[in-house]
Amino acid sequence: MRRIMVAGNWKMHGSTDMVETLLGGVMAGLGDDMPVDVAVFPPAPYLSQVQALAAGSRVEWGGQTLNPNEQGAFTGEVSGAMLADFGCRYVLVGHSERRTLFGETDTDVAARFEAAGRAGLTPVLCVGETQAQREAGETEAVVAAQIDAVLERCGIAAMADALVAYEPVWAIGTGLTASPEQAQAVHAFIRDKLSALDATIGGQIRILYGGSVKSSNAADLFARDDIDGALVGGASLTAEDFLGICRGAS
Ligand code: 13P
Repeated sequence: MRRIMVAGNWKMHGSTDMVETLLGGVMAGLGDDMPVDVAVFPPAPYLSQVQALAAGSRVEWGGQTLNPNEQGAFTGEVSGAMLADFGCRYVLVGHSERRTLFGETDTDVAARFEAAGRAGLTPVLCVGETQAQREAGETEAVVAAQIDAVLERCGIAAMADALVAYEPVWAIGTGLTASPEQAQAVHAFIRDKLSALDATIGGQIRILYGGSVKSSNAADLFARDDIDGALVGGASLTAEDFLGICRGAS
């Protein structure tokens, strides 16, 4: 049984005041019996504050990216060990904004995925196609190539402690959500692909959907067989919206 996970990617939003209000609101509103795992991904400067507030609660946290190197002269970068030092359990790798705005290739993403594992972090591998790629019928080929780059470098066994987030680029921050049918089709494709290599890992891995998830569409998405939760951007920035998505898991 795969438990629903709702993860909030705060992107480059926040202040100490906002973290206190937002995280305090989320922790206060999460009922003990809500059948959902919850994680937040704050900007790196706020990890220490999140750790202080959320330690011992049911909210976990992670980094938005990591540098593949362990340490060294990489000005501005953050290593996996540093994220682990601040109590992170997870780290996003290959978010589409990292790929498109910061030039991360499939090969770079695979190196970051490997570095996450070395640091004891659970990577959340983000994949997804652009609008043009979808219209050209390339969705499965694009997603397969993004996953294959990681499999070639790290092997299927590395997927035993990982999540996948399917985030169609055309649905991110646009208000356009993939329909539950569209998302389910790609999630099933991803699970089948992994199951062909290892049935246990394919059956157990959680595949989150991301792209304009809101409280009004979350329950419909979570009802699909292969959609195991959500990676939420905009709606993770207010406690009430985020909690509304968490309630979609019940
Ligand atoms: P939105 O929920 O704002 O569309 O962002 C999705 C996303 O990129 C989460 O990583």
